[in-house]
Amino acid sequence: MHIDPSEKKWAALTLVITFTMMGVLAGYAIKDNINPPSNVETIDSTRLHLSEEFNEDNLGVHVGPDGSIRVVMVAARYGFFPQKLVVPAGRPVTFRIASADVLHGIHTPKSNLNTMVVPGYVSEVTTTFRHTGRYPMLCNEYCGLGHDFMWSRIEVVPADKFTAGG
Ligand code: CUA
Repeated sequence: MHIDPSEKKWAALTLVITFTMMGVLAGYAIKDNINPPSNVETIDSTRLHLSEEFNEDNLGVHVGPDGSIRVVMVAARYGFFPQKLVVPAGRPVTFRIASADVLHGIHTPKSNLNTMVVPGYVSEVTTTFRHTGRYPMLCNEYCGLGHDFMWSRIEVVPADKFTAGG
């Protein structure tokens, strides 16, 4: 089969561009610790309020006896609950999020907090905020007419100013 040399050149160039971009993406994913979610944990979304972990009284920031920080949240049309969180900078924070209704997504710019929240499953992401400040937590999966208004705020405070439950 005859292939024109200039066509060969362009095909090669396309391949070079494709693999360069894949390399850049893989490099960033490794550098910034961006992974596909790895835990598969199911939950009955219609009975979240009756579950031990995701009932209303248990939502928010928890500090374990070993100092580990766990945030328990519910995503529901149209908000993330609780709507305001205070977490420390420079310490790993594990978010556990369940949807009470439909598919939602969670995204916080300038962090690797970015996951789908699929009804029937618990989404778990661990991230460390390097800088103090206010971060928005946005829904990034279209979930209905109020989707644009679905967000919470994360306040990242210096580690020495952080108190559990604050
Ligand atoms: Cu929840 Cu979009």
